[in-house]
Amino acid sequence: MMAQAGTREQPVVIAIETSCDETAFALATEEGVVAHVVHSQAAEHAQFGGVIPELAARRHLEALPSLFDQHIQPLLAAYPPTHVAVTAGPGLVGGLLTGLSFGQGLAIAHDCAFVGVNHLEGHVCSALLTAPDVASPFAYVANGLVPPFLLVLVSGGHCMFVDVSEIGTYRTIGQTRDDAIGEAFDKTARLIGLGYPGGPAIQRCAAQLSPAAYADAVARHPLPQPMRRERTPEMSFSGFKSEVMRRMQALARPLTPAEQQEWAASIEHHLVQALVTKLQEAVRVWQDEHPSMPEVPVVIAGGVAANLKLRSALDALAAGGKAGLRPLQISAPPIALCTDNAAMISWAAMTRLRNRLPLEMPPRVQPRWPLV
Ligand code: KG4
Ligand code: ZN
Repeated sequence: MMAQAGTREQPVVIAIETSCDETAFALATEEGVVAHVVHSQAAEHAQFGGVIPELAARRHLEALPSLFDQHIQPLLAAYPPTHVAVTAGPGLVGGLLTGLSFGQGLAIAHDCAFVGVNHLEGHVCSALLTAPDVASPFAYVANGLVPPFLLVLVSGGHCMFVDVSEIGTYRTIGQTRDDAIGEAFDKTARLIGLGYPGGPAIQRCAAQLSPAAYADAVARHPLPQPMRRERTPEMSFSGFKSEVMRRMQALARPLTPAEQQEWAASIEHHLVQALVTKLQEAVRVWQDEHPSMPEVPVVIAGGVAANLKLRSALDALAAGGKAGLRPLQISAPPIALCTDNAAMISWAAMTRLRNRLPLEMPPRVQPRWPLV
């Protein structure tokens, strides 16, 4: 006789992510993520310069059944599910509700436990996954990374340094007082005439320049590094955006494509440097609180972790060392798992199941659901 849902020996999780403008599914076993699919609505929202919540919810509703039928349903005979895990927050309420309703239907149809995942914990768990290096039935497997580590969570809505002592046990070390760094990318991209989402648009545009032309553009368009002189891990990005706005207003005409490349380079460089400067302050705090750790494991996650300049600046910081800082070990999720996806949601649920941590659906969706 088949065991009851949620109590079978081998958990198999179907995960759903609909908190913003990506509709995503994943299927995971304890060994790894078997399959995942992301349908991005970004191109449609781009014409409005940002996400329109009602439109996003409607598109999730349309995309959920066909994505499920095409990518997940065919796998369920081989991987009978025990849990349906849904992003329950933080995020846009309409999108969260569509994912939740669809997930609830699946849980009933497949006799599964129905559980809610915090989207931010999903981003944390994306850093625990890696693409397998040999032929494997899995898209992603665990990379062996375990807490404690210093998390740099950088997305469109969040920008914070967090001490992760266990998955589920978090303490904020520092955070932005206003805009998130992803928001700063999005808003300044718009100011220089690039599309939404701004981070990838700025990266693509700046990457047109040779390394020498990039360095030249940074020198020619200096921008403020917010709160640089304050020796705290607190951040602020709204003044940075206002300065770019003033500079564009002073110019009083649209930028040429060549000027857009220069400004994209300068914005990218200065935002990355601002974060790296503040990370060093966060490392000082973290290492004082973990005196027995010979090295500081730094884990970067969230959409902005996809930025290649940020990744190389962190590698350079780790390679160069800094007086007073212990050696750094940098980890980042695979690029495809930095922006929103359901593989990370499945892995957050799986990690909680394996660690026997509480995992249940909150009584309602949580548009605001802080990690800490
Ligand atoms: O984690 P995410 O997909 O959604 C939220 O939970 O917010 O992050 C989206 C953010 C956006 O602000 C986007 O511009 C930024 O991540 N982003 C990037 C890059 N890719 C996405 N920022 C800089 N460089 C990138 N390559
Ligand atoms: Zn996200």
